[in-house]
Amino acid sequence: MSFKIIGTGSAHPARSVTNDELAVFLDTSDEWIYSRSGIKSRYICTMETILDIAEQAGQAALENAGITGDDLDLIICTTVRGDYITPSMACVLQKRLGAHCPAFDLNGACSGFIYALDVAAGFFARKRVKKVLVVSSCNMSKLLDWTDRSTCVLFGDGAGAVVLGEGDNLLSIHLSAQGDPDVMFIPNVSGNSPFNRTPKPAIALTMHGQDVYKFAVNAMAHDLKLVIEEAGLEQKDIHHVLPHQANIRIINTAIKHLNIPEDRYHTNIETHGNISSAAIPTLMDELNRAGVFHSGEYLALSAFGGGLTTGACVIRWG
Ligand code: ACO
Repeated sequence: MSFKIIGTGSAHPARSVTNDELAVFLDTSDEWIYSRSGIKSRYICTMETILDIAEQAGQAALENAGITGDDLDLIICTTVRGDYITPSMACVLQKRLGAHCPAFDLNGACSGFIYALDVAAGFFARKRVKKVLVVSSCNMSKLLDWTDRSTCVLFGDGAGAVVLGEGDNLLSIHLSAQGDPDVMFIPNVSGNSPFNRTPKPAIALTMHGQDVYKFAVNAMAHDLKLVIEEAGLEQKDIHHVLPHQANIRIINTAIKHLNIPEDRYHTNIETHGNISSAAIPTLMDELNRAGVFHSGEYLALSAFGGGLTTGACVIRWG
């Protein structure tokens, strides 16, 4: 037994920031950002915390599934950094959602949602759970150097969530990690120990964009081929592809290595930017609420991110 998706939810901050607004304080332009990434605007936290956004997404998923927090057997949150180092985001959400189950955070960077699905599948296989909430939320705006035009224009804040119930709808899943802190990293807090003699870097994302780009194109094409084959399907059988939303050019290049019709790839990067592990569940929720998915259809998910990590899976909808 694995699981089936029985509810979805998503939420984002109220404030949408356009490329033109960034061009007011950065040496950039809407033309550069849109043509290089496919991004027109992104949501950025102002008065809200990322916990508020995660709570809204989690609550929406519970309502969509027709259950309450008290019905949950497990909460997994995926994030690179919540509002606190401890308690975990999952523990705070457990309280806010009225749940009483075990709860923990998982950091798989942008691949975190698919890592969480595989972890949840293990809990279902061992019959430890009947209902699991996965909430993926990222406050990327707090982790950026807003004077660095090569990174800050690419990211946004948001949360996506799913409720999983008992079922056999996870047909295949693949995770990978290729440890490499040089390609992309965000330092942690240094503290003020008088004994610490190591450098104290600013908490800001650093990235070799072109290296990530090449890695991402290869990973997406490779992982999707693999999970579709392991699901016993052909690429033309896939009804919907939900790729990680990091750069539209990565998706458009990976498409050329696959035989899935182009109209089956879904995107929302234009209005969200890269919201890390929240990207795929947010896209899933938007498509679910728009009535795009039909029972029995096959969804292929593919993510890549810091670590470097990748994750992909095939899920039967309904
Ligand atoms: N506005 C205007 N000019 C810019 C900007 C900007 N915002 N940013 C960089 N430039 C300039 C550079 O300084 C450079 O100028 P130069 O030629 O005078 O030196 C020029 O534009 C070209 O820069 P490149 O880095 O070569 O641009 P590229 O076409 O590679 O695009 C990008 C950069 C968008 C970052 C691309 O490499 C990319 O998308 N990489 C993948 C990033 C990614 O997916 N990251 C996240 C993955 S993990 C996760 O999701 C958390």
